Amino acid sequence: MLKNKIKKLALEIKAEAIENRRYLHQNPELSFEEYKTVAFVESRLRQIGIEKIEKKAVTGLTALIEGRNPEKKVIALRADMDALPIFEQNDVPYKSTKEGVMHACGHDVHTSSLLGTAKILHQLKNEFEGTVKLIFQPGEEKAPGGASFMIKDKALENPKPKAIFGQHVMPLIPVGKIGFRSGMYMASADEIYLTVKGKGGHGAMPETLIDPVLIASHIIVALQQIISRNSDPKIPSVLSFGKVIANGATNVIPNEVTLEGTFRTLDETWRQKAKELIAKMATGIAEAMGGSVDVNIMHGYPFLKNDPDLTSRASVAAKEYMGEENVVDLDLWMAAEDFSYYTHEMAGCFYRLGTRNEQRGITSGVHTPTFDIDEDALEIGSGLMAWLALKELETVTIQN
Ligand code: NI
Repeated sequence: MLKNKIKKLALEIKAEAIENRRYLHQNPELSFEEYKTVAFVESRLRQIGIEKIEKKAVTGLTALIEGRNPEKKVIALRADMDALPIFEQNDVPYKSTKEGVMHACGHDVHTSSLLGTAKILHQLKNEFEGTVKLIFQPGEEKAPGGASFMIKDKALENPKPKAIFGQHVMPLIPVGKIGFRSGMYMASADEIYLTVKGKGGHGAMPETLIDPVLIASHIIVALQQIISRNSDPKIPSVLSFGKVIANGATNVIPNEVTLEGTFRTLDETWRQKAKELIAKMATGIAEAMGGSVDVNIMHGYPFLKNDPDLTSRASVAAKEYMGEENVVDLDLWMAAEDFSYYTHEMAGCFYRLGTRNEQRGITSGVHTPTFDIDEDALEIGSGLMAWLALKELETVTIQN
């Protein structure tokens, strides 16, 4: 039985997957600087015997594992490879050797897990029909996102996959479990930069000034109206300003105030409209109060949608592989992830790999200096992804 073969192979490659993960964890590279990482991935793939490798987007690559009848159907599997600018505080033998750079979002896990999947699938290539395309991408953590460059560099062409899977570590879910969510799952994220301009001077003579602090305050409050009055209550939206700089003094009104925030939602049409409203409202308020505002909105990742059919098939397949009790439903998440770009190009399914182990104190969240995983997750991550790919290659989907 294929499932048992995969499970056996996943157990066999586990030690190597852990070794690969530890190497990557010790040698993290920041977004778009993954030169050594991608060289390591390529050398491991060649060691496995995978030859069809193409460099993409400078520090990314695609690779093909062809089964019998390789043109029949193509399924893509994606891993991201970049680390974060964080000082690791874990006291472990595989601690980052690069000060201030850390795999604190588990992309070392995604990469080593996909290498494990590759090794399993390569050994089974006479037992399936179709092709599995591996996508190792750079720069997930940095706008505009490595996925967008991979797509521009034709990672999804020649051959074109029918569907794509991606997984992400989840320290909220115990190791041994997997989480799925159908439909909208993660938010789009746009960065809002506003520079409010007035006329500074002595705080005791406001009548001679145009106070950008007061204008900025009105703008922050008024923009929340876009969320509460203009937004469809059925579509989740968030607008937060986390950086406000008015560098005056108790008695000094500054010339300008800068505001930086994030806008997140789960609908592309509304996302566009909301950004226009933000600019219009901020400009109108500033002008009405005698000042002006420079609006600069940095377009980030789109929202992430999991294809309902693909996700439901994957969830059924995962239950077969892991047992019904180990497959959980996920809630909406207003964080962003650049896998979303792929989900607007083709059917995509982004699921969560449980990595938590409370007994061993492995509970820290992603993007924290003490983030770590229970490495048993690598056996599951490698095996399950191989299983999902092969199940999906077997599925006959109706063309339209
Ligand atoms: Ni991540």
